[in-house]
Amino acid sequence: MNIEVLSLELNQVQLQDEQALEQFRIRFLGSKNVLKELYAAIKDIPNDQKRAYGQQVNALKERAEQIYHEAKAALTQTQAMGTAEDLSRPAGAVKVGAHHPLSLIRREIIEIFNRVGFVVSEGPEIEDDWHNFSALNFPPEHPARDMQDTFFISKGANELALRTHTSSVQVRVMEDQAPPIRTISPGRVYRNEAISARAHCFFHQVEGLYIDKGVSFADLKQTLLYFAQALFGPQTQIRMRPSYFPFTEPSAEVDVSCSLCNAKGCNVCKHTGWLEIMGCGMVDPNVLEACDIDPSVYSGFAFGMGVERIAQLKYRVTDLRLYSENDVRFLRQFKPGMS
Ligand code: DAH
Repeated sequence: MNIEVLSLELNQVQLQDEQALEQFRIRFLGSKNVLKELYAAIKDIPNDQKRAYGQQVNALKERAEQIYHEAKAALTQTQAMGTAEDLSRPAGAVKVGAHHPLSLIRREIIEIFNRVGFVVSEGPEIEDDWHNFSALNFPPEHPARDMQDTFFISKGANELALRTHTSSVQVRVMEDQAPPIRTISPGRVYRNEAISARAHCFFHQVEGLYIDKGVSFADLKQTLLYFAQALFGPQTQIRMRPSYFPFTEPSAEVDVSCSLCNAKGCNVCKHTGWLEIMGCGMVDPNVLEACDIDPSVYSGFAFGMGVERIAQLKYRVTDLRLYSENDVRFLRQFKPGMS
């Protein structure tokens, strides 16, 4: 040990916690401290240098004492103030995003059908003619097959198009699975429409399908009543109006009683007390046959609804364009469970 090395050490020492402070005390001020060695060496120092040497060692000792007392005082002060982190301070606000209103509605629809045993299945957005039209009993001259309604990607033998409805997923499920089948298929669909407040070239649907032995129109009606009451409230009523879809026979359009005016009549229900929410029907035997399911053994029902339409009724958003413009002022308003 020599004076220069220890002096350098004192220059650099940092005593930030009690452990470091104690180690420092033992090393420089304890009963076997390093300075003792230096004091003991005095006897070997030539007489004329003894005085200067002794002064240097004394100065070292004083500096060590000073460093120790200052560091100790500083540490006691921080302890008295508590930790540097004030744990009682209110936490900084964490900014969370909002869910898209269509995601909220889709999730709610899925949950309601999950409760009665429907599982989610999905299919591709780019579809062939078979799954989007032919297997669903669309005759070759049906207007939906027209360029004006459908976005075709390729024509000819391997005709591909953006699906115009989620009914295409019905076909895929029936081709892949044997009955009993209970499924819902949420997804995006595309139609060749001019964009306005009331129409868009893409929107979202949820398709439902139930195939088993002995499924009847009464089952369909009861399932949809359960759904409507779960979504719009227990006082909700439904009515079915005869309609036509190529893939169901008989087919119906489903209205729910207007929850905004308690069916008394308002602007939204155009003073009828009823709001149209979906199409449905008994799966046409031709569709079952196209998917290799024997219509003499099995029957089933299907339904399809627009997610934007339901969101429009629950959130009173009447301009369809708002859903895809990504305006955060619009999107920020929606929270889970607010509907
Ligand atoms: N696919 C129909 C549409 O796009 C909706 C629909 C109606 C689906 C009746 C069905 C159904 O499954 O049975 O408008």
